[in-house]
Amino acid sequence: MSGTNAAGSITVTLDGTNKSTKLALKPGTIGPQVADIRKLYDELGVFTYDPGYGNTASCDSTITYIDGDVGVLLHRGYPIEQLAEKSSFLEVAYLLLNGELPTAAQKSEFELGVLRHNMVHEQLRSFYNGFRRDAHPMAVICGVVGAMSAFYHDSLDISNPEHRRIAAFRLIAKLPTIAAWAYKYSIGEPFMYPRNNLGYAENFLHMMNAVPPEEYKVNPVLARAMDRILILHADHEQNASTSTVRLAGSTGANPFACIAAGIASLWGPAHGGANEAVLKMLAEIGHVDNIKGFIERVKDKNSSVRLMGFGHRVYKNYDPRAKIMMNSCHEVLSELGIKGDPLLDLAMELEKIALNDEYFVQRKLYPNVDFYSGIILKAMGFPTSMFTVLFAVARTVGWISQWREQVEDPTQRIGRPRQVYTGAKQRDYVPLSQRG
Ligand code: CMC
Repeated sequence: MSGTNAAGSITVTLDGTNKSTKLALKPGTIGPQVADIRKLYDELGVFTYDPGYGNTASCDSTITYIDGDVGVLLHRGYPIEQLAEKSSFLEVAYLLLNGELPTAAQKSEFELGVLRHNMVHEQLRSFYNGFRRDAHPMAVICGVVGAMSAFYHDSLDISNPEHRRIAAFRLIAKLPTIAAWAYKYSIGEPFMYPRNNLGYAENFLHMMNAVPPEEYKVNPVLARAMDRILILHADHEQNASTSTVRLAGSTGANPFACIAAGIASLWGPAHGGANEAVLKMLAEIGHVDNIKGFIERVKDKNSSVRLMGFGHRVYKNYDPRAKIMMNSCHEVLSELGIKGDPLLDLAMELEKIALNDEYFVQRKLYPNVDFYSGIILKAMGFPTSMFTVLFAVARTVGWISQWREQVEDPTQRIGRPRQVYTGAKQRDYVPLSQRG
């Protein structure tokens, strides 16, 4: 098969035949053109092969844009740096869901709407008792979020815009409560109910850290840092968990089931689980003197050790979120009076060495969002097992925005990739007595 460039199309010819087809090039607002291969099989009888979907656009989307070569991340056109500095998580949530920044009236109506939905159905509490105390909180939230579809029957009709709107509110509002309760359950403390006089990030910190007998005052610097961490994780285009949500959504599954699928997909160490893995890695390295030996192991083709928090499928440059996260990290440590945190020192030294090492330079491996987030979260008192949970709380906004966009897209079809079959050809069943 050979390809030739023509204005607005690619002509594909099947070598050794006189068969060819013209594939239209579909332009985006920004970013590379995309060859529309939908008629390739009908006209040439061939599929495309792209394991890991590194070269495949699976949908049209107006939500998030990434230019991985230069390290740009835009939500609805707004650079992540500006949103992290000037906006708030709930405003970003509104932006992702609705396409525009809210007016003052829209902002307060939205915030009130989210606040009004932050309690969970009281019967959902009993689900927690079914889990072992030592269950990973990701396992717990995966189960509890999936169970939401058994409770909120009045927001399951995906063809009804009002149901979709309420489901989005419920998910965004209740995830912090569900997540904080997973933590409280694991340490045997009473569940704290949300408070409507607190902002989104404050409320989460309150439900994580407060206990009933005492007044808990949320540190505003930490609340702001938490809000920023949530903004940085809010959406990231068609990553593995978002694609999982869309694939589940393409079957017509309800939004709670789809988000539970997204949480499961996020859990892996190559994706959202990396923040937890970074801290485990730093603990394993232990001391600056051990970095060299560790880097050698990472570079050794016979070892499966990776430098966690480094590398990205799309970013071949510094992940813009990692830079903001690093600055936030310094702010939080200074607010908490932590001087010369050994983990941060280790991370910074590791970063410096890796960024100058030929192995990483050649492969364009840079720190990603997870490299510094774990250090901040640890300093803020979060146990490592909660890091990915926090990512899930934030990403719920992106998932539900992407899910809504998909459901509202009239061209949407069930997601159904094909394969290269490499198994046995057709053969006849062999009776047991003749096998052997
Ligand atoms: N440490 C060492 N080598 C690496 C790393 C790493 N972290 N990442 C990629 N490489 C090497 C890899 O071995 C390969 O080398 P070679 O060409 O010699 O075989 C080359 O770089 C390309 O790697 P790849 O596995 O083909 O890249 P990918 O796009 O499939 O994987 C990734 C992307 C994020 C899964 C991978 O970089 C990785 O495993 N990173 C560590 C885990 C991590 O930090 N994940 C968080 C990603 S950002 C947040 C999120 O998405 O949730």
